[in-house]
Amino acid sequence: MKMMNRMGFVLVWFLVASCASSRDVVCRSRSRAQNGTLVDCSHTQVTSLSDVGISGVDVSDVILLDLSYNQQLEWRSGSLSGFSCLRHLNLSHNDLQELDQHAFHGLEELETLDLSYNNLTALTSRTFANLPHLQRLLLDHNQVSSLEEDVFENLTHLRHLDLGHNHLQVLYNNIFSSLAHLNWLGLGSNRLQRLETGAMTGLDRLINLDLSDNKLKLTSSVYPAWVFASLGQLQLLHLEYNDDDTIGEYPDNVFSDLVSLTLLSIDTFNEVHFGRDFAALRSIHTLDLSKNCQINYIANTSFEGFKNSTLSFINFQFCSLEIEACAFCELPSLDRLWFMYSHFQTPNHILESLYGLQHQTMTEIKLQGIGDSLPFYHVIDSHSARYLRNICVKNFTMSSCNIQRVAGNALTVQNTPFFRCVEHIDVSMNAIFGDASTLLKMMMSDGPLRSLALQDQIRFTITGAQCLVSQDFRCKDYFRDGGYDENKYTMGFRTSMNISYLNMSSIFPHLNPLPVNWTFPSAKHLKILDLSYLGFANCRMTFYGLENLETLSLNGNYCYNMTEKMLDFLDSLTKLSLSNFGFNPLFLKSRGWRLFENVDQLQFVDLSRNDLPFTDPDMLRVQRRLKELDFSYNRFQKMPVNLDNHGDLRMLDLSHNSLGTLTSSERSALDSLARRHAFSLKLLGNPLECACFNLDVVQWLWHTPVSLDGEGRQANYTCTTETGEITSTERVMAQWMSHWRRCVGVQMFGIALSALLLQLLAIVVTFIVVRSWTQLCYAWKAIRRYRLPRRHHFHRDAYIVYSEAQDDVILACVTLRVAVEERYGVRLLLRDREELPGSVKAETVVQHIDDSWKVVLLVTRDLSQDEWACGFTVQQAQRSITDTMPDRVIVVFFEEPRDLPAMPSLQLLLRMVPERNILHVHRDTPPQHQVWKTLADLITREH
Ligand SMILES: *[C@@H]1O[C@H](CO)[C@@H](O)[C@H](O)[C@H]1NC(C)=O
Ligand SMILES: *[C@@H]1O[C@H](CO)[C@@H](O)[C@H](O)[C@H]1NC(C)=O
Ligand SMILES: *[C@@H]1O[C@H](CO)[C@@H](O)[C@H](O)[C@H]1NC(C)=O
Ligand SMILES: *[C@@H]1O[C@H](CO)[C@@H](O)[C@H](O)[C@H]1NC(C)=O
Ligand SMILES: *[C@@H]1O[C@H](CO)[C@@H](O)[C@H](O)[C@H]1NC(C)=O
Repeated sequence: MKMMNRMGFVLVWFLVASCASSRDVVCRSRSRAQNGTLVDCSHTQVTSLSDVGISGVDVSDVILLDLSYNQQLEWRSGSLSGFSCLRHLNLSHNDLQELDQHAFHGLEELETLDLSYNNLTALTSRTFANLPHLQRLLLDHNQVSSLEEDVFENLTHLRHLDLGHNHLQVLYNNIFSSLAHLNWLGLGSNRLQRLETGAMTGLDRLINLDLSDNKLKLTSSVYPAWVFASLGQLQLLHLEYNDDDTIGEYPDNVFSDLVSLTLLSIDTFNEVHFGRDFAALRSIHTLDLSKNCQINYIANTSFEGFKNSTLSFINFQFCSLEIEACAFCELPSLDRLWFMYSHFQTPNHILESLYGLQHQTMTEIKLQGIGDSLPFYHVIDSHSARYLRNICVKNFTMSSCNIQRVAGNALTVQNTPFFRCVEHIDVSMNAIFGDASTLLKMMMSDGPLRSLALQDQIRFTITGAQCLVSQDFRCKDYFRDGGYDENKYTMGFRTSMNISYLNMSSIFPHLNPLPVNWTFPSAKHLKILDLSYLGFANCRMTFYGLENLETLSLNGNYCYNMTEKMLDFLDSLTKLSLSNFGFNPLFLKSRGWRLFENVDQLQFVDLSRNDLPFTDPDMLRVQRRLKELDFSYNRFQKMPVNLDNHGDLRMLDLSHNSLGTLTSSERSALDSLARRHAFSLKLLGNPLECACFNLDVVQWLWHTPVSLDGEGRQANYTCTTETGEITSTERVMAQWMSHWRRCVGVQMFGIALSALLLQLLAIVVTFIVVRSWTQLCYAWKAIRRYRLPRRHHFHRDAYIVYSEAQDDVILACVTLRVAVEERYGVRLLLRDREELPGSVKAETVVQHIDDSWKVVLLVTRDLSQDEWACGFTVQQAQRSITDTMPDRVIVVFFEEPRDLPAMPSLQLLLRMVPERNILHVHRDTPPQHQVWKTLADLITREH
């Protein structure tokens, strides 16, 4: 059967291979009734358009032609003139070097022309002259260094023009003057050094202008006054990465025309001053200084031009900031403020600069990576947080700021705007240790706080832990009922009613021993709880009060000793992470199902990195909605889960285990999941085998609809052959024939060898038979004799055949019985003794003969006249003589044969009876006569 399968595979393989080798330059085309035909010739290595295999397609019907990624393509002018309806032409990623003035002749309908990623160096005036409907022209990533003055003339419908990543140095006056509808102009990453006064003339509808990454110094000689005069509609202006100077000033009379600008991204100097020119930006929203930030000092007057403006977001990422106290005064619309990666500034200093924002309502204040390169820790106390406390801000982040302590009265003063407004606090990745009371108090308050990220306080150690679990420390009031109660072993964790997210992972790595039960009496809205890496070593706790919890993470604790009731009251849990959890594999195998019994809503389960060698495949049997299951980094040699339980599964991660193969039922279960919906399987890092027995798995990996590790592409896995050679599934597939032949060869060799041996045997046997026929016959007989019938196999020694005449009955039943049976112990079968007289039937006779060792015929005159006895019975007696019992029948004549009438059947019988079995006896012979002994001997004789 397996052989047949393999043969089938080979056949298919041949077909596929031969098809692939006759591959031609054929473009894919799709025709749609209303939209015309789309032709995709990308990646085909066509050299000229006459090669393009689009026969059968009416070129005048084609509206989209993709010729990208054909490095050999040689473009000849007018070669597309037949494509009169073409609207979208993609020529990107080719090696086009020039386009003459008739390049696009005949393509009047063209709307999109993509020439990006070519080697064009110059654009001449008439190249685009005949494309009146062009809307998008992509020329980026070429080497264009010069533009003829009227190159874009007549492109009056153009909306999008990308000239980025070229070698342009100068923009002449009026070069864009006919592009009255242009919205988007990309000139980034060129070599522009100067803008001529009229360079932007005519761009009345421009919305987005990218001039970043050029050499445009922020001086008035580079930006002549009123150069942006026509850009009254411009909303987004990118000028970053132009000027590396540390000292300078923004030019005057340049920005004041940008009355619609909402976003400005611009280079900075050590000291910036946004002067009166910027006051005209009535719609400004975002000021992005992050791209090339040189600022190290912000004075009270730095944002003078933005005072009382609509500016709402300033991004100071990567600025190294020294800020004067009133820098943000009179910025009433300021809503979001980012200070990031100012590694040598203290967070306290930044907080001081919030002076001007007091009593304002903001969405976000974010400090991240502030002061983290300074050699000391920071303490946020009541004084340094005094301005922050007066700001009503929703999201407050102060992460990675090297903060050691947030004082109790720094943030949690009741009725301050901060306390009343803050919804999300992120103080993760600091070094908070000891007293975390402020944050915990915040969490328990009935304010609007909804999420608290406290995780990754690398120095939040023993003190903090003890603080949480004992009543002797300052934080004792965080626990209801006076905190940790030795008798109840219950830890109550009162939280704000509103809190929905609480991340405490990696905050106190020595929190042991743990209380038995954790109760969260007020956490009705808590949805996400992260208690990872808290150093739990004894996990005999049950969580109470978290009926609405959806996500629980307990990664990185050591729960070898745990209770199966841990998850019993987490009714809404959908996502559970128990990675690196130190499971006892025996516990999980025998009681795992009990642990998961009550969390039947689970959709995501992570059991990775537990070093499990085995588990109960039906452990997650109640989790019918499971979508993702992560079993990576264990030691499974077999599929650890019964896939039949999880028809909804979308992702199964089995990477980095010890799987060598997958059984055919596992493979078909995986296939059927993949046929139902998108399903991916991760298998990297397993010691897969590509030995002969496993070739069908290798083949399955290649053809399965399951999406394997490589996104979309078929994944390639390392595998080991039976000789221990390390190769890869891809290589095995590439050399499939040789592997197949080798493997099938082994089987074939076995079969061929057996056949050869059989032939040899046949020859030898024939030879022996021919040579020693006689001996063999003897041997055969010897064997047969072994199986000859013996006397003791029969019920009786002799069946006596006699006529029904009175004399004959006496002869048999008296004389013979006395002389043979009684004297010599021969067991006779006498008809009249066995059954009622007159009931002789054919079957009985046959039966009696079969039951007897010998048949004795008493031939008398009466018998010769008895038709029944003489006819049927004698025939049967004759038939009982066989090869194995040649002297079965004994004939005893009581008359001279010649005196008897002719009996044809008896004559026939006598021919088959050996002479010694024929006796002649007188009726009156006495019982002691020798002849009866002879008869008895004849009867009992065995061969
Ligand atoms: C194709 O035509 C349909 C209906 O006429 C239209 O909705 C659709 O956007 C068109 N698609 C393309 C790619 O032009
Ligand atoms: C085209 O441009 C690429 C990238 O700049 C370059 O490597 C290649 O040599 C150019 N080809 C020609 C023919 O100039
Ligand atoms: C633009 O169109 C006008 C009128 O159709 C024509 O005279 C002029 O030559 C065109 N310009 C270019 C550069 O083709
Ligand atoms: C901003 O508005 C305030 C109050 O309306 C006013 O006192 C202040 O002078 C204004 N500042 C500027 C620069 O216009
Ligand atoms: C505020 O923080 C929450 C939680 O981190 C986040 O989901 C939300 O997008 C943030 N809002 C803003 C405006 O940054």
